Amino acid sequence: MLGNNYTLKIANSDDLDKIVALHLASFSSDEHIPVLIGKQYVKANYKWLLSNKNAFILIAKDNKKIIGLQSVSIGSFEIPMFIACLPVLLYSMLTNPKLIINNNLWKRLIRILNRLKPGKIKTHGKFAHFIIGIVDADYRGKGIFSAIVNAAVQKCKDKNCKIIYTGIYKKNVTTQRIFLKYGWKICPEMETNETYYYCLDLAPHQQSGKTANQLYFVSVP
Ligand SMILES: CC(C)(COP(=O)(O)OP(=O)(O)OC[C@H]1O[C@@H](n2cnc3c(N)ncnc32)[C@H](O)[C@@H]1OP(=O)(O)O)[C@@H](O)C(=O)NCCC(=O)NCCS
Repeated sequence: MLGNNYTLKIANSDDLDKIVALHLASFSSDEHIPVLIGKQYVKANYKWLLSNKNAFILIAKDNKKIIGLQSVSIGSFEIPMFIACLPVLLYSMLTNPKLIINNNLWKRLIRILNRLKPGKIKTHGKFAHFIIGIVDADYRGKGIFSAIVNAAVQKCKDKNCKIIYTGIYKKNVTTQRIFLKYGWKICPEMETNETYYYCLDLAPHQQSGKTANQLYFVSVP
């Protein structure tokens, strides 16, 4: 039976092409900006994640096939990944000029540039960011994502992270339901026009009446 026999592991650079293929098969260019920019940009994003010592990708494998993944950054990822992938972005815009007039792309770029303003990022405690979670369409609804998320959360605990954040598109109600079911809490202070943020406190505590969200506040969109 599909999905009854899989293993979980941390991906390495040999997994890059299969990871990119899974990503491209799972998101359309309407729903995901990196896919809109193009395959080379998606590949550059994952290459950065695979080569960065503060990031990892937890994958589920059925034999040699990658059937699911969760990419994770320890600390902020948006700006360093954006800078590392900028040459590929510029090349993609030059070779596909339609991108230059794409509203959604500019909105995303402005959001990233806003994060560069001084005082926009405040961190208290080590945090992780779950970037993208995917399970191959043929393997969904079998608990594989739950297994990947659990293993990725454990890895973050091993790395002494105090809290994990994830951003989920507002229209992706299914995934929001899944994270709420796993005990993640909504972080209204991080919400952007198109994304809700959720967090999982790895070190539950009460301190002078503050909640974990207040103690580990990360960024102002
Ligand atoms: C979101 C996604 C990763 C879930 O993968 P999955 O392997 O099917 O998830 P699981 O089987 O582990 O399900 C987790 C829980 O959510 C529930 N669930 C899964 N899919 C669901 C759906 N479409 N509607 C409602 N609940 C759903 C499951 O019943 C399960 O609950 P349970 O533990 O009580 O049984 C997968 O649907 C996917 O890859 N979607 C496209 C990419 C995407 O949108 N990623 C998220 C944003 S980055």
